[in-house]
Amino acid sequence: MSDTKSEIQRRRTFAIISHPDAGKTTLTEKLLLYGGAIQTAGSVKGKATARHAVSDWMELEKQRGISITSSVMQFEYEGYCINILDTPGHQDFSEDTYRTLMAADSAVMVIDAAKGIEPQTRKLFKICAMRHIPIFTFINKLDREARSPYELMEELENEFGIGTYPMNWPIGCGQEFKGVYDREKGAILAFSEFHRGQSRIRAIECRPDETEKLDELIGPKLRQTLADDIELLDGAGYDFDLGLVREGSLSPVFFGSALNNFGVEPFLESFLKMTMPPLPRRSGEETVDPFDEGFSAFVFKIQANMNKAHRDRIAFMRICSGKFERDKEYYHVQGGKALRLAQPQQLMAQERAVIDEAYAGDIIGVFDPGIFSIGDTICEKGKNLCFEGIPTFAPEHFASVERVDTMKRKQFEKGILQIAQEGAIQIFHEPNTGVEEVIVGVVGVLQFEVLEYRLKTEYGVDIRRRAMPFELLRWVENEDLDIRSLNLTSDTKWVQDFKGNDLLLFTSPWCVNWALQKNEGLRLREFNRD
Ligand code: G4P
Repeated sequence: MSDTKSEIQRRRTFAIISHPDAGKTTLTEKLLLYGGAIQTAGSVKGKATARHAVSDWMELEKQRGISITSSVMQFEYEGYCINILDTPGHQDFSEDTYRTLMAADSAVMVIDAAKGIEPQTRKLFKICAMRHIPIFTFINKLDREARSPYELMEELENEFGIGTYPMNWPIGCGQEFKGVYDREKGAILAFSEFHRGQSRIRAIECRPDETEKLDELIGPKLRQTLADDIELLDGAGYDFDLGLVREGSLSPVFFGSALNNFGVEPFLESFLKMTMPPLPRRSGEETVDPFDEGFSAFVFKIQANMNKAHRDRIAFMRICSGKFERDKEYYHVQGGKALRLAQPQQLMAQERAVIDEAYAGDIIGVFDPGIFSIGDTICEKGKNLCFEGIPTFAPEHFASVERVDTMKRKQFEKGILQIAQEGAIQIFHEPNTGVEEVIVGVVGVLQFEVLEYRLKTEYGVDIRRRAMPFELLRWVENEDLDIRSLNLTSDTKWVQDFKGNDLLLFTSPWCVNWALQKNEGLRLREFNRD
């Protein structure tokens, strides 16, 4: 195997998704500790930055020049080169969070054992399911009181419509949490006591028939419960099918406690065995093989610089095939131009380093003087590739926006259009009304603040913002349909995006159902691929 091929073979690129507070940062940190990428717990970004107030956030962005949230963390573990994509939550939740999932080959879904599925998990899961990427579930915080593992698995199956397969099974929870039963090994991994905060904890391995030893480790009551559970799982559960895991219809489930580093290493090892090297991507009718020597990549995120002194932006690219070399000439398909990427960067936790080479599966950040758009393809010259575009996802918060100073029409229009093109916000207008107001839609409310701040500092425009009561946006799929002829609830609004697509704004799921039921043949979509 060539060097490039073996480098690609050992890459694993995945995103960790969760609702805030389920333990994503803690799990990421433990994984990085295994890889030796960080030395002490508590050094992963996010903790300090994720919970500050809005004004702080702006200040921070200014000081750092650029946001380091939604970056990628790379580390080595037992011969694998692992890229973890961060999916920002809290106030940083935005359409970027969704786009980041377009760059991943699989996802790890962290769930709080006491809470089960929460709203943000639901939203992120949907995007992963749309791409049919493998989804691994880590049910966290078993050291606290937890819901029944059976109930949690049932919830996943019923709500998400996927199969689940428990790779291990918890023994007790809360104060009584004694470890897990590893189903593949047929062994109990017990811990005699917790060593909070330590990076590595040795599990005590024991077979289910070692009664005396088990009584000492987990006690007779839990031993009996476990024996019943094992019988039930082996008798009634699904068979494990790696093929189904890889096509995203069966989720392997792991129980553990990230904070106590309980079950993290077995999870990582099992995960690495089940996941695959970078997946092929589609370019028109063609499938691009990641092991192809020729470099190709697509832009999945553009990070505007919040610092006025540095107006440049960073474009994040996912490498889809071959090897990337610094300073080599590549071709930007949408721009129709050759280019050299002189300062490619890789982001590792809090540090950024200029890199000389990278491989399929890796993510690089390059300075963007304003030439890239989300979804753009970059490849070897002469290779006529164009990767499938990144869909636009329906925003969930809407506001009507107008400029305070009527004289500043040009700056306002230029600014708002540019910010929309970067993908931070989506803009709409009401057709045929002559109203100059712009309707802005965002996935995370913080983007409204970003818009206000950027229009003021970069374009010198103050805006007035009025919240709108809509919650759902749907693209109308039917062509040649007279929207005015539709039977809709009175609070449904017809709008168009700046490409002229027709959309409907709804105040509740009930109104969406009304539209679908009262208008036969109407087709509505939650995302758009134009
Ligand atoms: P997030 O990135 O998904 O938002 O979650 P994060 O890892 O920041 O974890 C949220 C809180 O849950 C943190 O507590 C963290 O210590 C705790 N936590 C994570 N994993 C476990 C676990 O396995 N067991 C228990 N009991 N707690 C866990 P915090 O008090 O909000 O923050 P901190 O003061 O500990 O940093």
